[in-house]
Amino acid sequence: MTSLDEQARAILRGNDQGGYTLPTHGLYPYQWNWDSAFAAWGFATFDNARAWDELDTLMASQWDTGMVPHIIFHKPDPGYFPGPDVWQTGQSPATSGITQPPVAAIMARKVWEMDPEAGQARMAALYPKLLAWHRWWHEVRCTHGPAAITHPWESGRDNCPDWDIGMAGVDGSSAGQYQRRDTGHVNPEMRPTKQDYDRYIAMVKFGCSVDWDQARIVRDGPFLMADPGITFMLLRADEDLAVMGRALGEDVTKLLGWAKDLRAALPTIWNDELNAYDALNLKTGEFANILGSGAFMAYLADAGNPQLDAQLMRVWDKVNYGIPSADPEAATFDPRKYWRGPTWPVVNALLAIGLRDAGRADLAERLRAQTASLIRKHGFYEYFDPLDATPCGGADFTWTAAIWLTWAGRDVESDAVRGAA
Ligand code: DGY
Repeated sequence: MTSLDEQARAILRGNDQGGYTLPTHGLYPYQWNWDSAFAAWGFATFDNARAWDELDTLMASQWDTGMVPHIIFHKPDPGYFPGPDVWQTGQSPATSGITQPPVAAIMARKVWEMDPEAGQARMAALYPKLLAWHRWWHEVRCTHGPAAITHPWESGRDNCPDWDIGMAGVDGSSAGQYQRRDTGHVNPEMRPTKQDYDRYIAMVKFGCSVDWDQARIVRDGPFLMADPGITFMLLRADEDLAVMGRALGEDVTKLLGWAKDLRAALPTIWNDELNAYDALNLKTGEFANILGSGAFMAYLADAGNPQLDAQLMRVWDKVNYGIPSADPEAATFDPRKYWRGPTWPVVNALLAIGLRDAGRADLAERLRAQTASLIRKHGFYEYFDPLDATPCGGADFTWTAAIWLTWAGRDVESDAVRGAA
């Protein structure tokens, strides 16, 4: 019987396409942006050079605008929809036209700290690209203050209830006829609905219709919501990038200025009625009025507070394994449907980093032990039912294997060596 560490390494190697890693075979047959950043962290536990390669390959598909796309379609694969023919972005290699959570700098810092000497030149080469992506986020997507998304897929938490009010304003009728592929790979009950997909595709069609002009998508597109999750990840990533910039002798004043402006905007996503950070529909000014796991990313950016602590304990105490992606006391809660309730090991890992930084090592350890027990029971699944641990979505998942190697499978003593401290 091979150890879980060996199984996790075998998953990373098995999903490795030579320079980039699939999230999982079948369901996600290309390179995904934030999945790749976590893959790099995982690789760094046994092959530091390969970790940097992963980040390099991701950033090599950066657009001239600075945006880093959410999917890079390196090789044709008929098993995924919507493929490059639907996105029509004109990039080479083909990419999608939207982005994903900017966790690459957070993971690059970890990879660098796990072997600073070997990583110095790699980090120096990557730094200007990461900086250009952050500039894009601040200048193009933080024009209302907090970080805004123009498609739920950009949040990485595709169908979480946070986006329901924004999705309600999207007319899905322009999607036309199409055949989904995701529901052929995994249990359709665990995936977004047909109504969701019609709207997702309508948004892609809007992007194509304006030739992926970001200013027009932000101004005239069908969907624009402030995402607490990305806002906090970007803040954290700015600060991590500044640490790397200083180590390289760069002037980080501009970067820290962006971070300061973003921090100053945090009160606009605090919903007094909900008593938590909340997603905000920037088209109507309405809050989503639903607590989601994105709000808890506040700990990553040193933006926790006692009210949020109370909310965290309330939702955590209602489930048995990890942090649920959506409020278990809300009517929309669905423990097995993608981001509408399941717990995601990768989100638990980010939250644990934040909790530890906030001085709550006890909570970080509770989260680690619960996440580890899910993986020990069922293997490296994409997500899990937080009530009864049922494994959900894709199997042999890259980021679940990566966070096992870096965090979930490590005891407290070895965390520091793996960069999780
Ligand atoms: C999918 O295809 O489900 C992805 O999450 C979109 O990025």
